[in-house]
Amino acid sequence: MEEFERFLSVNLPKVESFHPHYNTAMVQMLNAGGKRFRPALILGVVRAFNPLLLDAANHAALAMEMLHTYSLIHDDLPAMDDADLRRGAPTLHTCYDEVTAILVGDALNTKAFEVLSEAPFSDRIRVRLINILAKNGGSDGMVLGQAIDCHFEHTRLNLEEVKFLHTNKTAKLIAASLQMGAVIVGEKALEQPLYDFGIDLGLLFQIQDDILDVTQSDEEAGKTTNNDEAKNSFVTLLGLDGATAEADKLADKLAAELESMDERLQRELSPMLLSYIYRHREG
Ligand code: IPE
Ligand code: IPE
Ligand code: MG
Ligand code: MG
Ligand code: MG
Repeated sequence: MEEFERFLSVNLPKVESFHPHYNTAMVQMLNAGGKRFRPALILGVVRAFNPLLLDAANHAALAMEMLHTYSLIHDDLPAMDDADLRRGAPTLHTCYDEVTAILVGDALNTKAFEVLSEAPFSDRIRVRLINILAKNGGSDGMVLGQAIDCHFEHTRLNLEEVKFLHTNKTAKLIAASLQMGAVIVGEKALEQPLYDFGIDLGLLFQIQDDILDVTQSDEEAGKTTNNDEAKNSFVTLLGLDGATAEADKLADKLAAELESMDERLQRELSPMLLSYIYRHREG
């Protein structure tokens, strides 16, 4: 991932203007780090099948990270989760103001598609990557999940509905990352199986995130925690033990599926994925 960090740092959006903090604010959250989980999924699939395409794949990984970072910036706004801390740093709206956070989010959202449209792939692959990111990050994906998450605060949903919410707000972008990797290396037959695996992986990722909200401090998580009381999280629905049992079940299922994957994929993805799959046990 060092290569990706280098790529990101030289490809940060940079706009000349007389605005006093527009540029700094735009790159602040991208620079603040984060786990880079979604880029690692794209690049892991590409490394497994064609490492020669890694440089080109960095463009797709950056686009995905930009869109994800926009989703976090908006997620933290007072109108949504009203959080002060993100990636170990003050959130943009606390650092500057809400206008800045809203507009930086908008900018990173559109920038993601600019980056994909200029990535060094064939036109066909470029369009497919744009389509996958838009489908999963937009109105029928992450945005839908966030809409349901916020609309039903203070209203209890059932387990099926919470799974639908988590699938949209989190799992679809994670599934899209794996699928984009398959598109880049031209492994057509793997697109659907990887996407399906990614949906389960993303659901697990969000259940774990719900668990970490109650088990980690702000400092440990690098973001505002204990913030989900009014939310339809797996913990509010099932309790900590119930959510942990659900995560264990899904983690074991994913670990077994990982073992039956193509050997090249296993080699590239297993070490990273096994550390994530059981992260809720580390507390
Ligand atoms: C946080 O995503 C929001 C969720 C979808 C759970 P990450 O946990 O991937 O956040 P970063 O990118 O590491 O900051
Ligand atoms: C947000 O979920 C997922 C996004 C689409 C941004 P959360 O609200 O649980 O994410 P955190 O806990 O603030 O990172
Ligand atoms: Mg949220
Ligand atoms: Mg949040
Ligand atoms: Mg959370």
